[in-house]
Amino acid sequence: MKNRSLVSIDDFTSDEVLKILDLAAEFEKNPVSRLLEGKVIATLFFEPSTRTRLSFESAINRLGGKIVGFSEAGATSLAKGESLHDTIKMVSSYSDLIVMRHPIEGSARYASEIASVPVINAGDGANQHPTQTMLDLYSIRKTQGTLNNLNVFMVGDLKYGRTVHSLMMAMSRWNTTFNFISPEELKMPEEFKIYLENLGLKYYEHLDFTDIISRADIIYMTRVQRERFSDPIEYEKVKNVYVLKNSMLANTKPNMRILHPLPRVNEIHTDVDSNPKAYYFEQALNGVYTRQAILCSLLGIK
Ligand code: CP
Repeated sequence: MKNRSLVSIDDFTSDEVLKILDLAAEFEKNPVSRLLEGKVIATLFFEPSTRTRLSFESAINRLGGKIVGFSEAGATSLAKGESLHDTIKMVSSYSDLIVMRHPIEGSARYASEIASVPVINAGDGANQHPTQTMLDLYSIRKTQGTLNNLNVFMVGDLKYGRTVHSLMMAMSRWNTTFNFISPEELKMPEEFKIYLENLGLKYYEHLDFTDIISRADIIYMTRVQRERFSDPIEYEKVKNVYVLKNSMLANTKPNMRILHPLPRVNEIHTDVDSNPKAYYFEQALNGVYTRQAILCSLLGIK
């Protein structure tokens, strides 16, 4: 995996994904070392982030690397009209690897074609979020003991939610049955359903999931992505359509776990947080170990 970029989860084979998960498990046991000593990682966040940026930075700091970058694109020469092309070309010469979040779909692929160092896509618009997917896979394997033959419920904004797009593509490799629960306006886009159909995989679409919740191994809740709506009235119509409450979990499987890429708004009531089936905060912590594994793999250190 040395010197490769991670733009889409499909850039890595199943074996490569599993190698990263195994390496992440090693980092979970021993997260502090000097493996990234002498390396400079650029974190370029053109969109807001808490978990992705800070878990990358925590991962780098715990491995002795150094960070350059920004979380406010307005404070860079972009504000003077510099192009993404020129920004990436410059940052390539200042760093050994670039982590980039950008609002435009395809921007990460574009950056990877310009950069002379590996580029990690930390989210490009509504398209992909492959490092989130790695930590989601890590969390699923850790809680279920396997990635095979699971029944995964994806709930909420399946149209604009890049995390569900990446995770669906990844989980399609392990004979997953998918249940997509969304309002009509936020259904899983056709291209992703065709992707599953071409693989001969089953998926079911629902407007509600209270009657079928007992079948789920994983419930992957998502936030309605307000920032992707051009019409605020459309957002208001769907923003609170699903709210998972503790009382809804009584008949769920013992192994079932609730995941959410976070941030949450209202879609998981806080009364779920103390339920042992709530796994979203541990899931976010797993981001540090999986990002350590991704960085070391692309830099050829592990
Ligand atoms: N899950 C995720 O991408 O969170 P942030 O937007 O806070 O980085």
